[in-house]
Amino acid sequence: MYSFEFNAPTKIICERGAIAKAGALAAELGSKALICTGGGSLKRNGSLDIIINSLNENNIGYAVYEGIPSDPEIKDVDIGVSVCVEEKCDLLIAAGGGSVIDCAKAIGLAAANNCPVSELECLKPKHPMLPLIAIPTTAGTASEVTKMSIITDNAKKKKTVIATDKIIPSVAVLDVNTTLSMPPEVAAATGMDALTHAIESYLSDKASVMTQMLALEAIRLISRNLHSSVYNNKNIEAREAMLLGQMYAGLGFSNTSTALVHSMSRPLGVYYGIPHGEANAVLLPAVMEYNMPACAHKMAEIAKAMGIDSVLKGDTDYAKALVVRLYEMLDTLPLRKRLGEMGVRLSDLEAMAESGYDAASTWVNPRKPTIDEMVEIYKKIM
Ligand SMILES: [Fe+2]
Repeated sequence: MYSFEFNAPTKIICERGAIAKAGALAAELGSKALICTGGGSLKRNGSLDIIINSLNENNIGYAVYEGIPSDPEIKDVDIGVSVCVEEKCDLLIAAGGGSVIDCAKAIGLAAANNCPVSELECLKPKHPMLPLIAIPTTAGTASEVTKMSIITDNAKKKKTVIATDKIIPSVAVLDVNTTLSMPPEVAAATGMDALTHAIESYLSDKASVMTQMLALEAIRLISRNLHSSVYNNKNIEAREAMLLGQMYAGLGFSNTSTALVHSMSRPLGVYYGIPHGEANAVLLPAVMEYNMPACAHKMAEIAKAMGIDSVLKGDTDYAKALVVRLYEMLDTLPLRKRLGEMGVRLSDLEAMAESGYDAASTWVNPRKPTIDEMVEIYKKIM
């Protein structure tokens, strides 16, 4: 007997050079686009020109909101809403990493509902966000297909998690050309974020046969291609496999939520500005070690998808081998390995654990932690 709901309404276009279709795609959704971008790499590598030319060819007007930072804050969304309203834009094009796409989602939702972004987490917004074409330039968050947007609320010292079907993008354009200039550290951090999504989605209490199929294929693709993607940006096949794998993981976790790694990584971002993927990468092996008593069989399935061949054949042997492999992966990537070297202080662990404990992602984790146990996990990787 199978029983599940699965929602993935985004039109997905995966093709090298597909950003040149942005104008034609936009013409189906509106008449004037707000192009949201980050720090300027899109301009430097020529992608912004390609997008703008295709808008011009299709008689679509546009305004540009550039400079969206990593881990956008409420003020960054507010600026975007002002530009969107003043310029009378009726659709959005977000081209950038997960932060840019998350920010565009919040802009589109706040603009459509005439509502401050600080209230979006609690309110049930009446209207869907403005139509959004999402073009990821990293391979990690899968924000281009998910119902999540994470916005930092500095006043409340927390990450606002907007999770609603009303912010699922209309179109996702996966064009590997846009990811080729991604530096190794970013490829490593975002790739480990994607692997964490896939693993946590597979283990989530909300997992279904549908999401598990996606998660296992994501784990297979990411574990085989992450290293090449990080250390050889000319390996287009590896970068494309990462783009595909992270998207599969996104389709899964958008329906299952992430779990304890994410509950514990968000406070590291808020308290210390540690990049999301790097925080996940350092937490992932330790949290899996903690999870093992509750889900050894599922961890064994993950190990097998990663190609781990344990000499011993029991689930626990495979699960242990998985934890070892995750520590080894972290060791070989250009990422920091311990919280201590990221500047994390023992005195903040309790407050961060309390903050993470309240997150919805904690309660779909296969093993339900106490705050003390979460502190112990942080301590283990200090
Ligand atoms: Fe994530």
